Formats: sequence, structure tokens, C-alpha cells
Amino acid sequence: MSRPGHPMKPVRKAVIPVAGLGARFLPATKSVPKEMLPVVDRPLIQYAIDEARAAGIEDFVLVTGRGKSAIEDYFDHAYELEAVLESRHKIQELAALECTNLEAGRIMYTRQQVPLGLGHAVWCARDFVGDEPFAVLLPDDLMHGAAPCLKQMVEAYRDLGGNLVAVMDVPRRHTDRYGIVSPGVTKGRVVEVKGLEEKPHPEEAPSTLSVVGRYILDPAVFTHLSRLEAGAGGEIQLTDALAKLVGTMPFYGYRFEGTRFDCGDKVGYLAANVVLGLERPDLGGEFRDFLKALDLDDAKGATRCA
Ligand code: UTP
Repeated sequence: MSRPGHPMKPVRKAVIPVAGLGARFLPATKSVPKEMLPVVDRPLIQYAIDEARAAGIEDFVLVTGRGKSAIEDYFDHAYELEAVLESRHKIQELAALECTNLEAGRIMYTRQQVPLGLGHAVWCARDFVGDEPFAVLLPDDLMHGAAPCLKQMVEAYRDLGGNLVAVMDVPRRHTDRYGIVSPGVTKGRVVEVKGLEEKPHPEEAPSTLSVVGRYILDPAVFTHLSRLEAGAGGEIQLTDALAKLVGTMPFYGYRFEGTRFDCGDKVGYLAANVVLGLERPDLGGEFRDFLKALDLDDAKGATRCA
């Protein structure tokens, strides 16, 4: 907890790892980075950047890798495209590009030459982070709700310090997909983390409280990441480094308000498109009519009512 006269350092920097293979989305991800897959009309990376900006993040580093150059292009100004849109008076389309422009020097890229795992990807950003708390956002977890998830966490972090990870309950049969928390005392949305295990078997999992893709971390994690060897799935796991911090400094889970769509998974990705599509004022009405008319037991129904 913060003491009077000892305010927490603000969370100003975010690390966004985007170097994974995206194997679950092949063949699309053969040449399109998973983080560029659109939900309705925005790529996943844009949702992560918007959420981080809403939480007060000023500086970004994207940990990219082979085949991910489309992400860097996306955050460049597209002069030719903008000029053509301007000459054709496409005002709305020009406005749609505004969210892709970050202040010069505020977005950096570092490279994970081999996708050795999430822990290794975060470690690649160590020089950018330096000695201050930082956020990590996994763009394939799309967090949706009235208050941006990272903003909720930054607000809670001001009183807590240490490490704060987004958590949610998952079905017990799915514990082997996540980092799972050994929970301690719970106060409101904040759960004390007494231990962390990566992908435990459902029968051995200490709880069903799983870590999802938003973290506020102390830079001490880098010491452990630099020493780590491959863990579950042959990858260098962030959870394993975090587990070593438990007990050495404050460590909490935050039960965020909102919905998490796992867009690294096909069903989660489809669900995100349906929910966010329905919520869009410009599309929702027509899309709702389409879904209502759809005979879910008859695939051909789609062609009849589309
Ligand atoms: P995932 O494990 O969900 O992504 O990592 P993946 O490996 O790309 O997906 P599959 O399992 O092959 O389909 C979560 C986030 O961490 C990044 C990914 O790009 C994604 O944003 N990541 C993962 C890295 O940057 N480097 C890695 O070595 C692994």
C-alpha cells in the first residue's frame, strides 16, 4: 500500500508483445499478423492501444518479429491514401484514420528474433522500460466494457503498488490454458496473489482464477526473466518469472469489470465480432435483423436472409 509522502510512480509505459506465431489462426496468419485481424473494422492492436491511452499510457513499445511489418506500417501516416481521400472529400474515411496516428517518438519497436515465448518477448523490452512500473497488454485479449480494463487497474495500482494482474474465473476444465492464481485475501475486486502456476492440470489447479492479458508490473520481473529457461509448452513463460516475485513485494489480482474476448481463439474472435458489431450504432440495427432472421439450425438460412 502507498504511504503518505511515498506516492507510487505513475504507469507511463506499455509493452505490447506482437511477435507470436498466431498458429491457431492459420492460414490467415501466414501473411497477416494475428494482431492485425479486425474486430468489426479495427485491428486488435488498435483496441489495445486505445485502451492503454485511456489509462494514461504515454509511451509504447511493440515487441515485433518476423512477418509483422504490417503492424509498423499501420501506425505510420499513409500520405498517398490520405491525399486521395482528401481529394475525393472522403471526410469520414479520413477521420477513421485518426486513431492510428500516435505522437512522433511515442511508439517504438523492438524485435524478438525468435518467438521463444511471452516472457522472452517482455524481456526484449527491458531497456525501454528501465526502472519504472509498466503495463503489458496482450492484444489478442480484447477487453470490453464501460470502463477500460487497464484504466481500472491503474487506478487500483495507485494504492497497491507492486504487481497487479487482471484475473477472471474460467471453467475448471480450462485451467491448463492459463496462468492460475493461488488466491489469498479478497477485498472488493482485489485478490491477494499467494502463488502462480502456468497451465496446471484441472485436477491440480489451486483455483480457477486465471490471469488474462493485462498486467502492471514492477521492473524487478526482468531479473527473473533474464534467468528463465523454457517452461510449459517449451516457451519462456511470463508467469514463471512472476511466480518468483510472489512474496517479495505486493502482488495482487484485479477482477476487472467488463468482458474479455479471447481473440486468439476462433470462437472468442467470432463472439467479439458479434457483440461489438451489435453495439455499433451504424451497423447494429441491420446486423441484429440479420441475426434474428437467421435459422441457427439451418446454415442455408444465412444465404436466404443476408
Ligand atoms: P499467444 O500464445 O496467445 O500467441 O501469445 P501466439 O503464440 O501468437 O498464438 P498461437 O498459440 O500460436 O495461436 C499472446 C501474445 O504474446 C505474443 C503474441 O503475439 C500475442 O500478442 N507473443 C507470444 C510474443 O510476442 N512472442 C512469443 O514468443 C509468444
